[in-house]
Amino acid sequence: MLDKAIKPSSIVRYLDDYVVGQDAAKKTLAVAVYSHYRKIEQAQALRVEIAKSNVMLIGPSGTGKTLMCETLSKFVDVPFVTADATSLAQTRYVNEEIEAILQRLVDKAGFDVAVAQNGIVFIDEIDKLKAPHGQPRSISGESVQHALLKIMEGSPVKLEGGQYLDTSNILFICGGAFVGLDEIMSKTHGYGFISTSTGDNQAILDRLNTRVKPTDLFEYGLIPEFTGRLPIIATFHDLTRAMLVSILTEPRNSIYNQFREIFRNEGVELEIERKVFEQIAEIAFEYKTGARSLRGIFEELITPILYQVPDRPEVRKVAIASLFTEPVFSSA
Ligand SMILES: Nc1ncnc2c1ncn2[C@@H]1O[C@H](COP(=O)(O)OP(=O)(O)O)[C@@H](O)[C@H]1O
Ligand SMILES: [Mg+2]
Repeated sequence: MLDKAIKPSSIVRYLDDYVVGQDAAKKTLAVAVYSHYRKIEQAQALRVEIAKSNVMLIGPSGTGKTLMCETLSKFVDVPFVTADATSLAQTRYVNEEIEAILQRLVDKAGFDVAVAQNGIVFIDEIDKLKAPHGQPRSISGESVQHALLKIMEGSPVKLEGGQYLDTSNILFICGGAFVGLDEIMSKTHGYGFISTSTGDNQAILDRLNTRVKPTDLFEYGLIPEFTGRLPIIATFHDLTRAMLVSILTEPRNSIYNQFREIFRNEGVELEIERKVFEQIAEIAFEYKTGARSLRGIFEELITPILYQVPDRPEVRKVAIASLFTEPVFSSA
């Protein structure tokens, strides 16, 4: 069970060390995880079943959905596994695949089924299960949703060893980019007709209008029973250039820090000017893949330098001022 000392704010503080921006999503996810475990405790005390609220993370590719879940999993002391809906949709043995996911959860729980029953399952690329309206329905996508629905609602699943795992208290987090969802939302969101006499109301309307509703996900092509099981929706936003610079330099395990460490192990200090990170961010921004391309661009810059350094033991410092000037090697 979730440690008593963990609060939504402590989850957010931990996430802040690794995930740049996405403040609203951090809070939504933190509160969802926190209240899920508090609900289980209450339900056990009162001997009733919990009304579970699973979570949906929506936002463009490369904006930190998977990273946020992985970071969360490091912080909370409950077993946590990640799965991919695309591979579920490609197999003919969906139920076996789902059993395998739950089996991994039991493994993570040190083979303790009771502990696994309070774990978290993250299923990525859930938007790939859609059956677009007007197009031939993807049978596999829909059958995967039905199979997932069953375990999300809570059912006993037989594991390899013959044991049963009850999924009632497992928290499911689903993630997806949902490309094109914004167009659906601009069509279906019509709170604007409510008359607004004050500025405050406009702010409330703006919030309502940017909230993704389960009906939008139905419109997008997920089955309503499935979206109904994911009532908490957190949205991720496109990363700005400034955020891309922060991602390169600020998180504990940022790309810059990782490479500084690699150079340090060679006895060399790596010093990169802020301008370089801005240039890299600019290129990555043009690629429109969120933060995904940052590492590739950075490695293209650093690889030729890392090639030379071991051959030049006199070098103590490498300074890079711009992507368009030669790096400066110095021995002092
Ligand atoms: N908000 C962010 N803060 C820090 N790093 C990020 C952020 N978003 C993306 N990244 C980086 O980009 C990579 C891809 O992000 P990921 O979480 O897989 O994106 P998504 O799941 O939203 O498509 C991650 O390895 C991470 O290093
Ligand atoms: Mg992802």
